[in-house]
Amino acid sequence: MTAAALAPTVELVHGAQMPRLGLGTSPLDDADAEAAVASAIDLGYRLIDTAHAYGNETGVGRALAASDVAREELFVTSKLNAEWHGFQEAQDAFAMSAEKLGVDYIDLFLIHWPNPRQDRYVDAFRGLVELLRTGRVRAIGLSNFKPEHLQRVIDETGAVPDVNQIELDPTIAREESRGYHRRHDIVTESWSPLGNGGELLQLPPIAEIAERHGRTTAQIVLRWHVQIGAVPIPKSANPARQAENLAVFDFELDQAEMDAIAELDRGESAATDSNSFGH
Ligand code: A2P
Repeated sequence: MTAAALAPTVELVHGAQMPRLGLGTSPLDDADAEAAVASAIDLGYRLIDTAHAYGNETGVGRALAASDVAREELFVTSKLNAEWHGFQEAQDAFAMSAEKLGVDYIDLFLIHWPNPRQDRYVDAFRGLVELLRTGRVRAIGLSNFKPEHLQRVIDETGAVPDVNQIELDPTIAREESRGYHRRHDIVTESWSPLGNGGELLQLPPIAEIAERHGRTTAQIVLRWHVQIGAVPIPKSANPARQAENLAVFDFELDQAEMDAIAELDRGESAATDSNSFGH
């Protein structure tokens, strides 16, 4: 068997190397997540994304344990829910996730949603900083944080998150968030990078570009993420699609193609509003 082609990596602000593409696992249950993660690792995926909220950390952990790939070659991400927003609570959430995953460290641990009405995300981030300081995680970050939330985290803790994972695809291009991340050396990670497999994959500019390159529309969209500097985590339980989604590091979109895709942006109001939604 030839060695699987791996995604290149990006260095995060606290020094970890993060693969530039990974596997999303929501909404797979334990059994489906176990199968999906096992096949993804075989195909060359090294970044696996889960969360307490998905209820599948045990299944993900089973696949990690069964894999021949060494733990240090894998990049495991999980996320904590609103109930664990606090300095000690965030550390407790880590312990719970690590136990379910069967790992003694997590590569990247995130606050899943800011829940600004609860107003405890700054304390939760202090808990993540403590996890980093004590070597229980390699990188720390946030998910669904707006620039105003990020600014508070940075101002009040003096620490910078490695990553902010946000809803991002060509129709929700998140210019303002990405600009903020760039200025602060925060890596943007894209959830639902394929628009949840919906109409995005049929839209004319994407379909035309796919035709021109002899690639699938999913590959064009994922390549766009890579070229804007984001790390996409497409979900698929289907091994053929998993392979297709990883194979986006051997071609390039030109500026005219990137510009045509940029026309699809519907603006910030198309994104889930994390001031009102969260868990
Ligand atoms: P499936 O699991 O049956 O492959 P997103 O990551 O943007 O949320 O999109 C996930 C959805 O897109 C899933 O329903 C997944 O279905 C589908 N999907 C994943 N990869 C592809 C692909 N390469 N082509 C078409 N649909 C895909």
